[in-house]
Amino acid sequence: MELKVAVLAGDGIGPEISAVGVDVMTAVCEKFGHKVSYEYAICGAHAIDEVGDPFPEDTFNKCMAADAVLFSAVGDPKFDNNPSAKVRPEQGLLAMRKKLGLFANIRPVQTFDCLVHKSPLKDELVKGADFICIRELTGGMYFGEKYQDDNKAYDTNAYTRPEIERILKVAYDYARKRNKHLTVVDKANVLASSRLWRKVAQEMAPNYPDVTTDFMYVDNAAMRMIQEPKFFDVMVTENTFGDILTDEGSCITGSMGLLPSASTGEHTPVFEPIHGSWPQAKGLNIANPLAQVLSVAMLFEYFDLKKEGELIRKAVDASLDQNVRTPEIQVAGGAKYGTKEVGAWLVDWIKKA
Ligand code: IPM
Ligand code: MN
Repeated sequence: MELKVAVLAGDGIGPEISAVGVDVMTAVCEKFGHKVSYEYAICGAHAIDEVGDPFPEDTFNKCMAADAVLFSAVGDPKFDNNPSAKVRPEQGLLAMRKKLGLFANIRPVQTFDCLVHKSPLKDELVKGADFICIRELTGGMYFGEKYQDDNKAYDTNAYTRPEIERILKVAYDYARKRNKHLTVVDKANVLASSRLWRKVAQEMAPNYPDVTTDFMYVDNAAMRMIQEPKFFDVMVTENTFGDILTDEGSCITGSMGLLPSASTGEHTPVFEPIHGSWPQAKGLNIANPLAQVLSVAMLFEYFDLKKEGELIRKAVDASLDQNVRTPEIQVAGGAKYGTKEVGAWLVDWIKKA
C-alpha cells in the first residue's frame, strides 16, 4: 500500500513524540513493503508565532492531500495565562476538526496489566477494563451559536438528526466488531438536544438486533465508570459530555500517557495521543512516546492493516514488559530511558520481529 501522511507535530513535547511515531511508522512500512511519504506542516502555538494562524491554509491543504494525519499536541502556557489573546492554539485543533469534518472521535480506554497499580481505582476494578468512548466532535456547544457580553453569555448545544445518525452509525459499527454492547450517554431528563439523541438512537436500535443498546444519563455514567468500568464496551455521546468523560476514562487506566485516539469523518482521518503538549517537559527527552506510537497502530488499523497494528501493539507490550520505560512509569531501580531511547528500542524490536 502507498500512504501519504501529513505530520503535524505541534508544540511542547509534540516534536519529540512525533519523531518517534514517524520512525515506528517507517519501520513497520519497510517491514511490510508499504511505501510511505511524509509532509510536515505547522499548527498550534508555533504556527501562531510564525504566520498568525494556529491552523494555516497550507496545513489544511497538506492534510486534505494526505491519506492520514499524524498529529501530536498543541498548546503553550503563554496563551493560557492571557485571557485577552485573540487567537489560541486550541482554536487550531477546533478548526482542524471542523474543516476536515472529523465528527467521530474514538478514544479507547485500555488498561495495561503491568500498569494497573498506577490507577487511582482498585486493581480488581481496573484489570481487564477495556472500552471505547466515541465522542461526537464537530457539533454541540463547541460549535453552536455563542454570545457573550459583560452580563450575559450562552453557548448553544445544537444537534441535527443527520449529525446524530452518522455518529450513532459509527458507534454501532464499533459495537458490532466488539462485544455488541452500546451505551448511549445523554441527559435526556433535562436537555432537549439529549432527547433528540435518545429518540434517534431508539429508532436505530432495531436495525442492530445483535447489539444490546442501553441508555444512561451522563451523571450516572460518570459514576458507573469509576464504580464498574468493566460494564462498558462502547459508549457514544455528544461533544462536551465526551470531552469530560474521556478525561475521566483516561485516568482510570492510570496511564494517560499511553492512550491514543483517532478522529474520523468526511475527509482525512487524524491520529493523535489524547494527552496534551506538556510544555514543561519540552526538549527534556522525558515524554512517553507510547500514546503517539499507539496512534500509529490505530492509523494502520483504520486502513485495515491489522498485522501492522498488531506488531506495534506487541512492540509496546514488549517494551513495557522489559522495563524499557520513560521515567513516569519506570519501576524502582529500572534503567533510565528517554523518549528517543524508547523509540529506538521499539524500532529495533520491530526490525528484528
Ligand atoms: C480534547 C481537548 C480539546 C477539547 C481542547 C484542547 C480544545 O481537551 O481534545 O479533549 O476540548 O476538545
Ligand atoms: Mn478534553
